[in-house]
Amino acid sequence: VERHGAWVVVDGRRVVSFVVVERRGRAAEILWMASHPEQRRRGHGTLLIQHVFPELRAGGVRLVEVKTLDASAGYEPYDATHAFWQSCGFILIDTIDPLPGWQPGNPSAIYVASL
Ligand SMILES: CC(C)(COP(=O)(O)OP(=O)(O)OC[C@H]1O[C@@H](n2cnc3c(N)ncnc32)[C@H](O)[C@@H]1OP(=O)(O)O)[C@@H](O)C(=O)NCCC(=O)NCCS
Repeated sequence: VERHGAWVVVDGRRVVSFVVVERRGRAAEILWMASHPEQRRRGHGTLLIQHVFPELRAGGVRLVEVKTLDASAGYEPYDATHAFWQSCGFILIDTIDPLPGWQPGNPSAIYVASL
């Protein structure tokens, strides 16, 4: 679909990280992103973001949003997720609970990064 873009990092023939982005004019949202569970903390996610952000910027995007389960939910696997977005320069601007479409009790952290 035209408004969506997807990028992957491959190691040989294996996909080790992917990201899916939806464009909305001068803004974009990261809809999904993950690195292979056995391939985390090796810089693949950072490599991907460092490649995708300049490409989005060149296409006119100035602000990127990502929504993720808020830290107040106490779900430990997402500690890495928050650390990751912060390391990529994202700033937590809000927490919304419930976010429309999400189940109550799953507070959503709203992160943004300026390009
Ligand atoms: C979030 C995720 C995509 C990060 O991918 P990654 O390839 O492991 O990321 P990187 O190796 O580039 O990590 C970059 C930085 O993020 C931070 N970080 C990443 N994982 C971390 C962890 N487990 N603990 C603390 N900091 C972490 C660190 O600052 C790290 O830099 P450093 O290793 O030099 O200290 C990966 O953990 C993942 O797939 N998680 C599950 C799915 C998910 O949460 N997706 C996003 C949903 S919105």
